[in-house]
Amino acid sequence: MIWLIMPSIERNLEAWDRSYHWSGHGDEWTDQARFCGKPYGEWKDSIAVHFINPNLGPASTALEVAPGHGRWTGYLAKKAEKLVLADLSPSCIGFCRRRFSGMDNISYHVNDGRSLPFIKEASVDFIWSFDSFVHMEKDVIASYFSEFSRVLRPGGKAIIHHAGRNHPTLGLHAFLKPLGFIGERVYQLLSMGRVNTHDGWRSNVSREMVRELAGDCGLIIEAQVDSWGKDKEYNTGLFKDCITTMRKQR
Ligand SMILES: C[S@@+](CC[C@H](N)C(=O)[O-])C[C@H]1O[C@@H](n2cnc3c(N)ncnc32)[C@H](O)[C@@H]1O
Repeated sequence: MIWLIMPSIERNLEAWDRSYHWSGHGDEWTDQARFCGKPYGEWKDSIAVHFINPNLGPASTALEVAPGHGRWTGYLAKKAEKLVLADLSPSCIGFCRRRFSGMDNISYHVNDGRSLPFIKEASVDFIWSFDSFVHMEKDVIASYFSEFSRVLRPGGKAIIHHAGRNHPTLGLHAFLKPLGFIGERVYQLLSMGRVNTHDGWRSNVSREMVRELAGDCGLIIEAQVDSWGKDKEYNTGLFKDCITTMRKQR
């Protein structure tokens, strides 16, 4: 019943560092692929082909925020010259360190869940995060975007997968949440347009909010998408998520 509790930094740390069992190291999360009617491997590759690969070259420095057990890390590390990993969970960073010990272009950092002090200004070409900002609330996202603006090189890009609840309904959360399970279901229907068995522990965030937070940090929104591929065959519809591409001005 963790999805009845909103995802703060402390609760994310508790969930991913201590409670979660990581049975497939992230590859157990097949529900979004199933929702698209696609085999999991195909869905995963489509994300690399569409969002990761075109943004990396042999001289690129990439940053992955919140890699967990490294579900996307291999794709990034193979394409980039250097890859920086930052996660608030010491056990996740420890796991990645062991998993990718054969690669010498990755650096590993446990952070405070909102800042990237170990990265120099204007040193990163591409930032990637999937299935992690979906669990971050507005203040945390604002803090990361301010850091993105600092660490990205002019023209550098960030692609972030985040919650995309219906913006006008966000304020209802405070009234419906105290009602417990029923209130959560009603809020899910209003803010996501559908009711699943749970809300994927999505934060109370909309695509409009993300656009505004990026703008506040001087980041330019290039795209906000909820589907990709030939005939839009892949989508983020299960929890009404969004994938935002933003760029630092040249
Ligand atoms: C659901 S897992 C996703 C992991 C990975 N991105 C994937 O797709 O398999 C969420 C990850 O986000 C990390 N995380 C959550 N909130 C964070 C924050 N504020 N800063 C850094 N990492 C965070 C957790 O420790 C965990 O590794």
